[in-house]
This record gives sequence, C-alpha cells and structure tokens, in this order.
Amino acid sequence: MPEPVIVLDELTKEFPADPPVRALSAVSLRVEKSDYVAVVGPSGSGKSTLLNTLGLLDRPTSGGYRLDGIETVSLKDGARTTIRGSRIGFVFQSFHLLPHRSVLENVMLAEVYGPAPRAGRRERATRALERVRLSHRLDFPPGSLSGGERQRAAIARALMGDPSLLLCDEPTGNLDSRNTEAVLDLFDDLRAQGMTIVVITHETDVSDRAGRRVRITDGVLTEE
Ligand SMILES: Nc1ncnc2c1ncn2[C@@H]1O[C@H](COP(=O)(O)OP(=O)(O)O)[C@@H](O)[C@H]1O
Ligand SMILES: [Mg+2]
Repeated sequence: MPEPVIVLDELTKEFPADPPVRALSAVSLRVEKSDYVAVVGPSGSGKSTLLNTLGLLDRPTSGGYRLDGIETVSLKDGARTTIRGSRIGFVFQSFHLLPHRSVLENVMLAEVYGPAPRAGRRERATRALERVRLSHRLDFPPGSLSGGERQRAAIARALMGDPSLLLCDEPTGNLDSRNTEAVLDLFDDLRAQGMTIVVITHETDVSDRAGRRVRITDGVLTEE
C-alpha cells in the first residue's frame, strides 16, 4: 500500500482565549490518494481550522500530521512553506482573480512568489488551463467569464506547481447549480488523474458526489 496523502493523529488545535477555544479536538483521519472527502458541519464547528491545518497555514497545538509520508508538525516554517508550495493547492469560495489581467496572466501569477523559474511559466499556465477546459478563454478578462468559468480559472491557478492535494473551502458557494455541476465534473477529472481533494461544503449536491463524508461538530470529527 502506498502512503496515504493525509494522516492526522489525535490532532488538537486551541486558540488562546479565556477559556481557550478548542477548535479541533483529537481529530484522527486518513485520506488515500485520489480520495474525494467532503467536510460538513455547522458554522463555527472547526472546518476552516481543519483546512488551514491541512494546508500548513496553521500549526496544531498537539497531535501529528503526516502529508505524503512527511511528518509536518516538527518542521520549521520554511520547510512547511516549501511543502505547501509544491504539494498543496487552495480553492476558495471567492475566486480572487485580478480584474485587469487576462485569465492566462492570473494563472501565471500563481508562480510569482514561488521558486519556479520564469522560463516556461506561460506554457505551464496554458497547460493548467487546458486541464480545467478553459483553453478558449486564455486572453479574456475574468469579468467576461461565467461564475463557473471563473472558479475553473481559480482551480487552474491552484494546479500550478502540480499539487498532490487540493483543499477547497466552499468552492461552489457562489455558483448556481449548473456551474456547480461543471466544477464537480472537473473534480472527477482531477481525481481520475490522481488528485486528492478535500472540500468543505454546506451543499448536499457537493457532498453527495464525494466518495466520503466526514462531519465536524464542536471540533470533533466523525465519519458518516
Ligand atoms: N484565529 C482565531 N482565533 C480565535 N478563535 C478562532 C480563530 N479561528 C477560529 N476560531 C474559533 O474556532 C472555532 C472554529 O472556527 P472555524 O474553524 O472557522 O469554523 P467553521 O469554518 O466550521 O465555521 C470557532 O469557535 C471560532 O470562533
Ligand atoms: Mg469556515
């Protein structure tokens, strides 16, 4: 068996306050390569904290997190940033595309602060946009695209650097049902190419398409 992409071992996250806020409480979770896991739960239950921890943006208070076989908790910030840049892509509810740049330029910008060389950037961005089926929109401004196309452009940006894990926080929250379907079809394509996907969602059509659903209630994770 290959290493799971994600192994969380009794992961706990507390925010300082009086009394401390326990946002995640002894969360254990394994996610295998090409899994598509939906995370559901009420507002304030710890979903975003889980995603930020999986994305190495937040450090747990205690517990372990192995990503692609690497124990991340003991790593220094620089090593965590390197791993984040090379293995993790983020997708959010709002697309965060720059309005005065073309779709292609927006995707190219993903690399500006990373270690990737400038050479080949345009080709890599063009390929990422092919993966999300937006080759016909390269030179368009984001404002001329449908909501679903804009989210696909944002996903292409997340695919720069060839991550093994895609972390999505309410990716279809701004989309109508037809555009939601298009994004979910894209997730299926990416999984077939070996991508592992974790999606926070309130929408049953999104969680129904996932292979697995986990629920977080008051920081406690349960498998459904
Ligand atoms: N930076 C922070 N400082 C203090 N408390 C926080 C912080 N981030 C989240 N929390 C608290 O942790 C709990 C979980 O928050 P969050 O993960 O954002 O929930 P969800 O995404 O499920 O709505 C909430 O009680 C929230 O107020
Ligand atoms: Mg949240």
